[in-house]
Amino acid sequence: MTSASDRVFIFDTTLRDGEQSPGATMTHEEKLEIAELLDDMGVDIIEAGFPIASEGDFNAVSEIARRSKNAVICGLARANFKDIDRAYEAVKHAAQPRIHTFIGTSELHRAIPNLTMDEMAERIHDTVTHARNLTDNVQWSPMDATRTEWDYLCRVIEIAIKAGATTINVPDTVGYTAPMESADLIKRLIETVPGADDIIFATHCHNDLGMATANALAAVAGGARQIECTINGLGERAGNTALEEVVMALKTRHDIMPWTTGVDTTKIMNISRRVAAVSGFAVQFNKAIVGKNAFAHESGIHQDGMLKNRENFEIMRPEDVGLAGTSLPLGKHSGRAALRDKLEHLGFEVGDNQLKDVFVRFKDLADRKKEVFDDDIIALMRVGEASE
Ligand code: KIV
Ligand code: ZN
Repeated sequence: MTSASDRVFIFDTTLRDGEQSPGATMTHEEKLEIAELLDDMGVDIIEAGFPIASEGDFNAVSEIARRSKNAVICGLARANFKDIDRAYEAVKHAAQPRIHTFIGTSELHRAIPNLTMDEMAERIHDTVTHARNLTDNVQWSPMDATRTEWDYLCRVIEIAIKAGATTINVPDTVGYTAPMESADLIKRLIETVPGADDIIFATHCHNDLGMATANALAAVAGGARQIECTINGLGERAGNTALEEVVMALKTRHDIMPWTTGVDTTKIMNISRRVAAVSGFAVQFNKAIVGKNAFAHESGIHQDGMLKNRENFEIMRPEDVGLAGTSLPLGKHSGRAALRDKLEHLGFEVGDNQLKDVFVRFKDLADRKKEVFDDDIIALMRVGEASE
């Protein structure tokens, strides 16, 4: 599959980059549960962990590899033989194992291991060759690619492809790029690097400037065919590209982004809630797709519009992400149409005059309370009946 294909692989790294968020550590059992949910929902590749990092990570990756049904199981390794051997030991039980090895290639990142450009190029050749001798599914990443000098980036990617890498990931490690640049970078790499047509280019974006989803989709427009992402956008600092956002964007705007994924979107809400629960990272109310308010409408104008035709204010169907339906919470911004609808749902038939009365009492209560619940409405009706 190349950049001409309309299928985009979804590579989930919730259990690796996501778990690297300070405070998001998951237990062994929790990791197994999340991996199973990812596999069930149709994620193509699961980056299950960083096996050299700890005994616990190694055991989790091995167990996930053994239990995997459909997904490729990937383990991360730095650019040295010990890391790569350990990653392979962990993933080798999977029906489809992958080793993902990386090294920072920008000038700043080259200073970390203190390697010259030539020394690093040699290291890349040796480590990718070593990984490829263990498995035929090898991913290589030039970390901080978006801040790496263009000529050097082309040079090292060519070396990695010649040494046997089958996927080249282009990480925006510090969330520095912007959509136009992201698309252009992938497009130019595919046009320039010898051998680029035979491998998959991946995009791996961080959200430091809030552009991770836009940058990932732009990279796909440029020819990338693997998106690296996490559930709820969990990840280092401001997080990674959110899986639910790219998947739903591709589904909803297929007219202008004609690429498909294999993800069953109706499983999104459940896994989002499970990841929030096990990581301890609550989802913000107004988070796209999975936030509590993503399919909720409180203002009178919006509620009235929704009751007439949900497409007035919803571009996606809540059922498509696994929700039972739209929610029209009642509050001080709500209008008569929503109150009447709620009363009917609760089994009260009201005429216009009675609705007028209840509406006055409802507004009075809503001014004092953030949200008016079903029990509050029932109580309002009872008070009304008693005073008649
Ligand atoms: O952000 C990054 O560069 C990474 C690499 C390990 C791929 O997570
Ligand atoms: Zn990352």
